[in-house]
Amino acid sequence: MILYQALTGKHPFVDPAWQGKTRAERRTMLFQNIRKTEYPPPEAMVPDLAPSLLRVIQHALRSDPKERYADGRAMLEDLAEAWREAKADAQLVAANPTGIESSTRHPAVAKQAPDPALSETASVAAPAAEPASEEESTEPPRGLADFGRYRLLREIGHGGQGVVYLAHDSVLERDVALKVLQASFHADQEMLALFRHEARVAARLNHPHIIPIFDFGVQDGKPYLIMPLIEGPSLDRLLGRHGALPVAFCLQILIQAADALAYAHRNGVVHLDVKPGNILLRFPRPGMPAAGMLEEPTAILTDFTMSEWFRAGERGNAQGLSETARRAGGTLPYAAPEQLAERLEAIGPASDFYALGVILHEMLTGKRLFDGGADGATRRLLNADRIEPPSLSRQDLHPAADAICLDLLAADPAKRLADPAWLLERTRRALRDCET
Ligand SMILES: Nc1ncnc2c1ncn2[C@@H]1O[C@H](COP(=O)(O)OP(=O)(O)O)[C@@H](O)[C@H]1O
Ligand SMILES: [Mg+2]
Repeated sequence: MILYQALTGKHPFVDPAWQGKTRAERRTMLFQNIRKTEYPPPEAMVPDLAPSLLRVIQHALRSDPKERYADGRAMLEDLAEAWREAKADAQLVAANPTGIESSTRHPAVAKQAPDPALSETASVAAPAAEPASEEESTEPPRGLADFGRYRLLREIGHGGQGVVYLAHDSVLERDVALKVLQASFHADQEMLALFRHEARVAARLNHPHIIPIFDFGVQDGKPYLIMPLIEGPSLDRLLGRHGALPVAFCLQILIQAADALAYAHRNGVVHLDVKPGNILLRFPRPGMPAAGMLEEPTAILTDFTMSEWFRAGERGNAQGLSETARRAGGTLPYAAPEQLAERLEAIGPASDFYALGVILHEMLTGKRLFDGGADGATRRLLNADRIEPPSLSRQDLHPAADAICLDLLAADPAKRLADPAWLLERTRRALRDCET
């Protein structure tokens, strides 16, 4: 009904002519229409309605529940077909803006003939994902009691300072991710403050590609934060498994991460620790996707431990920043030159975009751009490391993707591609080019 209404601007079973009737009368007529499945044909109101979309509406509106879609997946498959048809349409229109020969836009043959692309979708939906737990410890966490209403189930990841567990929220009866500081930091006041800072920053941001914070608490002196469970691998693990990734995938991740960072920057936050381990991925199916199943990724930026508040054109707490710059040593391979040089006045949003450039390079080539050691960082500072365009190691790369990567990696933050609108426009264009 929602789809019908969105397309036609009218509820399928409500007749505008009922205006003068009483509420009870309108109800009776509405129920009658629903029972008899009587609605004005949407194709009469929307002349260019794609036949596949019409079929979705008809199937979903059957009055007998047994004849309707049995589950969401069946409906999603039909919608995916409609989506492909609409996309092919848009390309036809772009190629032929005059609309001449528009009768070929929904060729009847395409409606009936089995579409080879369809079986591809079916295989996308087929179970091929590996279990998320494959590389993870299944040991029950030792030495850690439950955190109030949250029962710890098993460890699912860790980074420089935190350990992340799969936990069960006994009140809302759902699984969540629970992050605690590593035990060795529990007495470290500075780390405790950073942890609280991380929770507060992330909790203030509200964006589809930034991890939401459900809850924060302290149990027996140990602070913890609760996030939704992201049932896909981190980008780090995905790179470890698959090496170089499909170009369209790389550009999609870049767009989503850049969108998240641009939002954070607009809200006065620089992340300062953007790296593959801090980008979580969600796919239509949980777990590590097999090669060739890397479609429809959602990137979720996480771990705001190193982040800093700033106001546009002004660095916030210079002392705090210097601390951050020092601590960022943990992630040397992704740090921007100004972070490595501790040029505090130059550290800002552009530093996050540099990290995106390093990540893009790594996704495209399957190899880490800079080695992790201090020597590598020094060489980078002396500009002794010439950055090779990713196209040197793969043939299928459009020059636009190469250029975006190198522009993000400009050593001088003032010359870097760090205008989010421009970055997004260029990346979306490159994505369209590589999809056609
Ligand atoms: N919400 C989550 N859902 C699933 N896994 C997560 C989640 N948050 C973190 N992880 C896993 O834990 C790892 C470390 O988390 P992170 O917040 O980056 O900790 P640290 O501050 O120690 O680096 C991530 O790389 C990821 O594998
Ligand atoms: Mg991390």
